[in-house]
Amino acid sequence: MAKKKASNQGSADSPAMQSLSSAQDRSAMQAPPAEIRYADELAILREADAHPRPDGWMLSPPSIVDFICGTGGEKVGAKKSSARAITEKFVGPRDIIQRCVVTLAGERGLMLVGEPGTAKSMLGELLAVAISGTGALAVQGTAGTTEDQIKYGWNYAMLLDRGPTPQALVPSPVMQAMRSGKIVRFEEVTRCLPEVQDALISILSERRMMIPELGDEDCSLFAAPGFSLIATANLRDRGVSEMSAALKRRFNFETIAPIADAGRECQLVSDRAAALLHESRSNKTIDKAMIELLVTVFRDLRSGRTDEGWQVDRPSTVMSTAEAVTVATAIMRESAFFPSGFDPVSRMPGHLLGVVMKDDEKDRQRLLGYWDGPVQRRSKTGGPLWKKLYDRRSVLDEAAIDSPIGQKD
Ligand SMILES: Nc1ncnc2c1ncn2[C@@H]1O[C@H](COP(=O)(O)OP(=O)(O)O)[C@@H](O)[C@H]1O
Ligand SMILES: [Mg+2]
Repeated sequence: MAKKKASNQGSADSPAMQSLSSAQDRSAMQAPPAEIRYADELAILREADAHPRPDGWMLSPPSIVDFICGTGGEKVGAKKSSARAITEKFVGPRDIIQRCVVTLAGERGLMLVGEPGTAKSMLGELLAVAISGTGALAVQGTAGTTEDQIKYGWNYAMLLDRGPTPQALVPSPVMQAMRSGKIVRFEEVTRCLPEVQDALISILSERRMMIPELGDEDCSLFAAPGFSLIATANLRDRGVSEMSAALKRRFNFETIAPIADAGRECQLVSDRAAALLHESRSNKTIDKAMIELLVTVFRDLRSGRTDEGWQVDRPSTVMSTAEAVTVATAIMRESAFFPSGFDPVSRMPGHLLGVVMKDDEKDRQRLLGYWDGPVQRRSKTGGPLWKKLYDRRSVLDEAAIDSPIGQKD
């Protein structure tokens, strides 16, 4: 079996794809990818990087950890004039990131598991960008994902005309990553059927993909140096399939937990809301006290216990940091659009209801229970914001809201 000639055709960094993205300027993108958002930081780290790099990697392991966790204000740069501090993007223990990087330099894939909204996808993208310069090679796992989407498909017009040739082959992102020696991301892998997931076993263990249709000459593609796979899996989602033991053995698992420190979670939520206000060209300042209140409510409902030691009945919905960011940015966006007489705290219960009421009507009762317990107690001793929050209890009790999707009795 001959080794298949590496080709960049059609891959995310191929000239065709590059000209597509470079034709569009950043301000015209709704969500610029990490490689564009952090292009300056990546360029500086690359220029200043003095450590050895694994084959096919864009940055060395220490620079990748700096890119993701930040340099704590310390400036980096080959030239003093252009040196700058690297921002913290993932809030969490540095040694988790260090282990992720070590895994990706080895022979196993990296599996990021945890509750929804703990930044697994964000972390996967940042790692791919720091290692390979692109996070674009990705497969989104769904119940309908097929083996073709993991391996390769065919351009049927060409297939009928010329038969199975390398030109008629339509590579999946996994195949593109193997050819070009890059990281591929597999989002929510456990949403795929187990037999589809198992297509990854030989790719991860042998670093080879068989293409029997091409005949003896071209029938194996061997992964170029730099190739690896980052998968994510949500622990609390419905409709997930069990992973086979054989596939599990091909991965190193890292569990990503919600942000442990309340102060750091507040800072993250307030930074994201500030970035949004900036993008909306609003000159409003972030209401730190409102953010603190919001994050406290989220943490109480997430953990089922307040700092005072009071028990809270947890809603079935995940009260993630990602949802806290969404609520904070929605409130700040509302304040930018409708500034006159806007009071952020009084808007909070309505937005919270939108987060909590997704699956189970009983969650409204749980939220009301939280209001009648901790919120009421704090309204007496915890200051005017808690009082204002408690006074808006009626918003939660309005019966006019339709039954949530997939409601259980
Ligand atoms: N530890 C964290 N560090 C940085 N951002 C976080 C963290 N936890 C949550 N977030 C926020 O949550 C958002 C969504 O996370 P995402 O990657 O979609 O989560 P997941 O894939 O785990 O469901 C991120 O873009 C970020 O704003
Ligand atoms: Mg995700």
